[in-house]
Amino acid sequence: MERNTFIEPEFKEPLLETSLRPRTFSQYIGQEKIKKNLSILIQAASERNETIDHILFYGPPGLGKTTLANIIANEMGVHVKTTSGPAIERPGDLAAILTNLQEHDILFIDEIHRLSKSVEEVLYPAMEDFKLDIIIGKGPSARSIRLDIPHFTLIGATTKAGMLSSPLRDRFGFVAKLAFYSNNELLEILTHSATTLNTSIDKDAGIELARRSRGTPRITLRLLKRVRDWAQIHKSDSITKSIVDETLDALGVDNLGLDDHDKKLLMTIINKFNGGPVGLDTLAASTSEDANTIEDVVEPYLLQLGLIERTPRGRIATANAYKHLNIKHHKEDNTIIQESLF
Ligand SMILES: Nc1ncnc2c1ncn2[C@@H]1O[C@H](COP(=O)(O)OP(=O)(O)OP(=O)(O)O)[C@@H](O)[C@H]1O
Ligand SMILES: [Mg+2]
Repeated sequence: MERNTFIEPEFKEPLLETSLRPRTFSQYIGQEKIKKNLSILIQAASERNETIDHILFYGPPGLGKTTLANIIANEMGVHVKTTSGPAIERPGDLAAILTNLQEHDILFIDEIHRLSKSVEEVLYPAMEDFKLDIIIGKGPSARSIRLDIPHFTLIGATTKAGMLSSPLRDRFGFVAKLAFYSNNELLEILTHSATTLNTSIDKDAGIELARRSRGTPRITLRLLKRVRDWAQIHKSDSITKSIVDETLDALGVDNLGLDDHDKKLLMTIINKFNGGPVGLDTLAASTSEDANTIEDVVEPYLLQLGLIERTPRGRIATANAYKHLNIKHHKEDNTIIQESLF
């Protein structure tokens, strides 16, 4: 899912993403535990000349799920066929994809939580036994036949693991949650990418840019491109800290990396709902945002920073949120202020 960001909302940078996308595990920075487990999975399967088990990646947008799927295919030396949940409309569409795969190929389904029930049902025997059940004819004369399909690996990606049906989730042999990146990891990604883009970034500028990237490589890369534009227009040889500050301020990205969407959400909880708790749907209606976008895209980072809390009664703005926005906090609140954040 694309973050509806502060920059051009519908604007994608496919070329940038392709040229900067890591192709091997060694180029893929961070997510160490996942990489280690995947390497074992790949090595063991290769030694036995078997297909690797089905894999599910979940986590907020832009953390590297699609990238990982492509790296696995690359490291295994197999083809990857990429599709997405909403693109597979009918069971027949999936049957066509599955029968066209080659032995050991990878089928990557993005937004896998959006598969329809009838398509999912075709997927179960395919994942488990590499069989396809096809119904021929209609009515009383209809009969079902079972076809063998190539041994393939399904890699699913989703921003909403909770929306996956449990029979589907249970059929994945390896499930991994991608975490937000540390500032040091983002700095490393930035430094590599700056070299690829033929530009140079000062150390303190890189640190600042990493710190304001919401823990997300996709955002780091976008911001890098924007500061590169700024440096070029101002005829600066390298990207300096003041260029980063000016560009990000102009884009409305604050010192914690929060953009206008984040701030609007926090201000709404604080001003309209007296700090919460407020339910997701009410919040969505009050901010004119889509509830899914709030839940999958905006909220995860605010939760990570400890600016909001999710309770059974709804979302609450913490004392940290008041402090960050410079608003006086009247309510009794047991939230501990994490000084280290500020
Ligand atoms: N670990 C990493 N090291 C270097 N670059 C990365 C890493 N992870 C992601 N990127 C870069 O960030 C960008 C976004 O990654 P990717 O498209 O894989 O995210 P995603 O999790 O699939 O997002 P979505 O949920 O929106 O589909 C890519 O251009 C990729 O180059
Ligand atoms: Mg993706």
